[in-house]
Amino acid sequence: MGGVGTADHRLEYELAAAAAATLRDAGFGTAVAAIQTGSGIPVPDLAAVTTLAWADVPGLPGATAPGHRGAFHHGLLDGVPVLVLEGRLHLYEGHSPAEVVRPVRAAGLLGVPNLLLNNAAGRVRSALRAGAIVRVRDHVNLMGVDPLSGVHDSRFGDRFPVTAGRAHDPWLGALAQDTAADLGVELPSGVYGAVHGPSFETPAEVERLRTLGVDVVGMSTVPEVLAANQLGLRTLVLSLVANPAGEVADGRSAEEEVLDVARRTGGDVVRLL
Ligand code: HPA
Repeated sequence: MGGVGTADHRLEYELAAAAAATLRDAGFGTAVAAIQTGSGIPVPDLAAVTTLAWADVPGLPGATAPGHRGAFHHGLLDGVPVLVLEGRLHLYEGHSPAEVVRPVRAAGLLGVPNLLLNNAAGRVRSALRAGAIVRVRDHVNLMGVDPLSGVHDSRFGDRFPVTAGRAHDPWLGALAQDTAADLGVELPSGVYGAVHGPSFETPAEVERLRTLGVDVVGMSTVPEVLAANQLGLRTLVLSLVANPAGEVADGRSAEEEVLDVARRTGGDVVRLL
């Protein structure tokens, strides 16, 4: 674990490449997409699966957040080879931004061209209901950090990656909308506001997020999207609306509420994938 500090992406490249080599040696072949699952959202059922715990992959700190078990799985989802990154590292756990994006960079260096990310998020736009799935069409990074800051390594991509029209891939977004329509799953699109956490937002902060045009708020995913964008991966983010931001149901911790909604409606996220 590290603080924000100054990342040296030349070293980060070596770490991500070593992780990718370990996965390759463990029999992880090519995959059409990498899928990273968020808090409590079920891991899709894969056929012919190979699993490796994060602890067995060099350079990856253990995942400790609730609902996150750190493992990589490779297998077939409806006959299509996919890589599943089960679990996620968060800034609020004390991981540095560069550590947070290492699993995604490892997937990128394995040659996986598409990255599908899901997360549980708080509702800012009042019209969304608990359990709704939102396709993230854009984000506002309020985490105070960019995982690409530090000493640059051009093997990861551009020094100043363009995000407009890329970070949330329009083609994958349209595919998700078409698939949702075919399955009869409602899929509003929205803007994800990424905050550092771990404190949940105050009502005043939620009001401020609304004026910024944020629809859902969460403590994850944007670092991974930025690292994937630099590597040239197409990304799609689906957010599961777990709770009204700035409020929590009586008698339950925020964490229980988020995990409960994720367990109940995470299945629709998996169907969409
Ligand atoms: N705020 C921030 N992150 C979250 C929330 C929230 O209300 N719910 C789930 N993740």
